[in-house]
Amino acid sequence: MEYKTEVQQPDLLPEPSVAYIAANEMQRSIEPVYKTSDTALYNNDCLDIMNLLPDNYIDMIFADPPYNLSNDGITCHAGKMVSVNKGKWDKSNGFENDVEFHEKWISECRRILKPEGTIWISGTNHSIYQCGFLLQKLKFHILNDISWFKPNAAPNLACTTFAHSHETLLWAKKDKKAKHIFNYEKMKNGIFNEDKMKVPDKQMRSVWSIPTPSPDEKIFGKHPTQKPLALLKRIVVASTNEGCLIVDPFNGGGTTGVAAKIVGNREYIGIDIEKEYIDLTINRLNQINTQNTLFSNEQ
Ligand SMILES: C[S@@+](CC[C@H](N)C(=O)[O-])C[C@H]1O[C@@H](n2cnc3c(N)ncnc32)[C@H](O)[C@@H]1O
Repeated sequence: MEYKTEVQQPDLLPEPSVAYIAANEMQRSIEPVYKTSDTALYNNDCLDIMNLLPDNYIDMIFADPPYNLSNDGITCHAGKMVSVNKGKWDKSNGFENDVEFHEKWISECRRILKPEGTIWISGTNHSIYQCGFLLQKLKFHILNDISWFKPNAAPNLACTTFAHSHETLLWAKKDKKAKHIFNYEKMKNGIFNEDKMKVPDKQMRSVWSIPTPSPDEKIFGKHPTQKPLALLKRIVVASTNEGCLIVDPFNGGGTTGVAAKIVGNREYIGIDIEKEYIDLTINRLNQINTQNTLFSNEQ
């Protein structure tokens, strides 16, 4: 069989294997918009990039997909009434289409994850039950559902329901029998000053109290659903080791990549369809690179 020599893989991938090229009898080339020795960012649809990745290749995926809640309602931000709309990427395409989209990207995640690899999916009630159902349908094994409690959550302006003050993070592994990474001791004995519910020297529980991102996490601009760094650092430390390759198909402001860089010795692939958010991520990553250079020059 003759293989096309022009097939180009995203950076960070090994030489394309014969099996991989054979399985992808297409000539494709997508360049990352940003690459360093340990990070690649793609300004594309996540399905197009994940489709290029080999089977059983990724150690950990953190996915914070669209919540599909931008329905022209109102919410409270910094004490003011504002539109709930996050952007056109967050509009619902109707229940069936939203579920179909979630099934497509979760299936791709399953294919690219190593058997012992794990996936985190974050969401609110608008999306998390669909994603949880699909994880079970696609034969993932659910390890935990974490409640991320926001002690500084905005009040409910309509006063018709309880104030929304948490998000859910599902943590699942591809293969129930495979041994996944869980850095139990680091979770039990680590320092989590931001979390008033974590008792020192006691097991980390499944309710995490972490404030929403502070202003210094937004100095390069803000993403409307940016996750706090403390949340992503905890996830990276808990579920990866040095040398692990992490993918975030819905990179947003790049919190996962920034956390991977701060924790250190992890590789990261981030994908986002909006250029503005990739630019924000590049600025955040470059700031860490500059800080690292400054420190290494001081020694
Ligand atoms: C909930 S936000 C992620 C926020 C991120 N976790 C953070 O901390 O900044 C979802 C992101 O997914 C992106 N997005 C939506 N649909 C996408 C798709 N099909 N492929 C890639 N990115 C997509 C949006 O542009 C948005 O930035």
